[in-house]
Amino acid sequence: MPSITLTRDAGVAVLSLDVPGAPVNTLSLALAEELRVIFDEIERDSAIVGAVLISGKSDNFIAGADIEQFLEFKTAEDAEQASYTGQKMLSRLERLRVPVVAAIHGACLGGGLETALACAWRIATEYPKTVLGLPEVQLGLIPGTGGTQRLPRLIGLPNALDMILRGRNVRPKKALKMGLVDDVVHPAILRDIAMQRAKELAAGTRKRSQGRTERGAEGLLLERNRFGRGLVLKKARQSVMQQTHGLYPAPLAALDVIRVGYEQGEDAGYKEESRRFGELAMTEVSRQLIFLFFATNSLKKDPGVSSPVPAPRPVEKLGVLGAGFMGAGITSVAVQQGTLVRLKDTDAARIGKGLAAVRDVVKERYTKRQITRQQLDDMMALTGGTTEYTGFGNVDLVIEAVFEDIDLKHRVLREVEPLLPEDAIYASNTSTIPITRIAEAATRPEQVLGMHFFSPVHKMPLLEIIVTRRTTKEATVTAVAYGKQLGKTVIVVNDGPGFYTTRTLSAYMNEAGRLLDEGAAIETIDKALVDFGFPVGPITLLDEVGIDVGGKVGLVLADALGVRMTPSEAMRRVVTAGRLGRKGRSGFYRYDESGKKGDVDNSIYQIIGATARAKAGQQVEIPAEEMVRRCVLAMVNEAARCLQEGILRSVRDGDVGAVFGIGFPPFRGGPFRYVDTIGVAAIVRQLQELNTRHPPRFEAAELLVEMARSGKTFYPTEGRPVT
Ligand code: NAI
Repeated sequence: MPSITLTRDAGVAVLSLDVPGAPVNTLSLALAEELRVIFDEIERDSAIVGAVLISGKSDNFIAGADIEQFLEFKTAEDAEQASYTGQKMLSRLERLRVPVVAAIHGACLGGGLETALACAWRIATEYPKTVLGLPEVQLGLIPGTGGTQRLPRLIGLPNALDMILRGRNVRPKKALKMGLVDDVVHPAILRDIAMQRAKELAAGTRKRSQGRTERGAEGLLLERNRFGRGLVLKKARQSVMQQTHGLYPAPLAALDVIRVGYEQGEDAGYKEESRRFGELAMTEVSRQLIFLFFATNSLKKDPGVSSPVPAPRPVEKLGVLGAGFMGAGITSVAVQQGTLVRLKDTDAARIGKGLAAVRDVVKERYTKRQITRQQLDDMMALTGGTTEYTGFGNVDLVIEAVFEDIDLKHRVLREVEPLLPEDAIYASNTSTIPITRIAEAATRPEQVLGMHFFSPVHKMPLLEIIVTRRTTKEATVTAVAYGKQLGKTVIVVNDGPGFYTTRTLSAYMNEAGRLLDEGAAIETIDKALVDFGFPVGPITLLDEVGIDVGGKVGLVLADALGVRMTPSEAMRRVVTAGRLGRKGRSGFYRYDESGKKGDVDNSIYQIIGATARAKAGQQVEIPAEEMVRRCVLAMVNEAARCLQEGILRSVRDGDVGAVFGIGFPPFRGGPFRYVDTIGVAAIVRQLQELNTRHPPRFEAAELLVEMARSGKTFYPTEGRPVT
């Protein structure tokens, strides 16, 4: 079945794109071939004076290239060739005898935007799903069909760099201002306006779009001369290096390709674009990022239970216990989805503070003009506070986010359960306490589960749902569906101390504490792990999370999992000294009044006993590589244990959970992908070697030992990654 239908309407050829059987349009080699035939026909038929490219889907223009095809590239030359074929097709579109107008409704991304860029005129609809962008860097690639050349020329270098290097999407109004589109219209008149523009362009009453007419003279001046451009590109490179520490090759390659286009002309630019696209398509970084893309997509379709799958129940009204940091965060995302929320705390002042925090988050969207004033007011009108559980009689779901204290958690559960509808689900946002223990206080334990959000809730993409042996499938699918409605990537794990994310993160942080015990410098540890790819180092993270919180978690996990989780001496001392981290403005680092991080607070070395050890000459130099190996392998080994114990349902969940919940470097794919990359046998050898020096913390998980023995890998080594 063809993807494009060509109809003629008063001299205008309307190319309607609708890839059969697919939810969104994607570009493929087969589609390029179809276009070639259609272009031939347009060239032949002199009755055609203009053309309109429009989507046959209800709310999607072209979502990008068919990423599955990328996985079939065996060599850099294959990928380079595919890019070259795409470029040729779009050059032909650009030079067609008749002007082509892109009528954009819905996502216009990657190859989709590159196609639109080759058209003579671009019209976008004012519609929530209409976005334009070049997200290739997020897959470790660069735009491969002319985007690196056409975009800067159309909208100017600074805006183009912003879109290409960050993979950032642009909404229609902004696109119009930037010169990326030429008209923004109501969806109902998109086709008519597109037809009209095609005719005007054909008649010469309108000129081909020049895009960047609105850019100031200053910007133009800067870009027109070699020196000015060099300055812009240099600054962009510095900013990329600062953000990525040079660990992501794609944005750097994009900068090179753009420079070649400016310095040596478009043809050289296109050539370099295909060459670098081909090179990048073969990198491990790109493979891992593409895996994460597929894994996240497959989670979107995963109901969270095995079949038979019951239907999820709608969650229209939510009760939140605790208006603190997390309770307010959860409320702020819930009201944005139209959920009615009752927020319960112990006194009016705390509720007031919680509601103010909710408003801050929602208001930020208003300030960024993503919502109207009316929408802001409507969202805030959905929340109400109580000190007495009023309004809990008809909630569908309760999320508890009171202090991390089992007695308190039992008390609030006992208080609220009798007031709830019989079928209401009760979720705890605890980060460590096993849900089975919390459910001991319930008369309906089968309706109890964990919904572990991460802070800040409105920014962190992951939701870890924890089910006990007794949790019903209906409760699970309802919590999963609601989590997705809140925009989260949801993994479902089985119950256990620290579940998956807290447990693996603790193993890693604990090892950082051991490094402190041995005299390593705080900033050296942090730097080593940031260089590996974590967003912040483990000691900085501890300050962020709260040293008191970290201390409590450490004790619970040591109690449950044994000696390998025993908190470090350094950690015990800092907790005893009452340092809280950033929130108390006293941690491993210094913080100013506004909470901004400064240098290491050297007085902490006294507290952790390092000063005394240094004086006694007991300090050792630990190479950065060893620091990384110890912290990362502690995490990876614990992840393997979670898999072996059935806490995790799949390696996919473990990888996605670690990347989106606890900051495992995305370009390494997650702990299991990382093991596969290094090799299971090599990882086991490294663990064994570490264990001879630090027994028993590095005793390799049985699963890893067994896999090394039988030569197995976590993911299939051939073909498409199974997610
Ligand atoms: P918080 O201290 O900011 O808030 C706790 C709130 O619970 C306070 O407002 C307190 O007044 C309220 N509260 C105490 N007793 C109550 C009662 N009987 N009824 C209603 N409210 C009551 O604590 P935070 O950080 O929000 O943590 C809450 C839960 O979320 C804890 O279980 C924590 O482990 C978990 N969590 C925290 C994360 C974080 O980064 N802070 C991340 C993930 C989970």
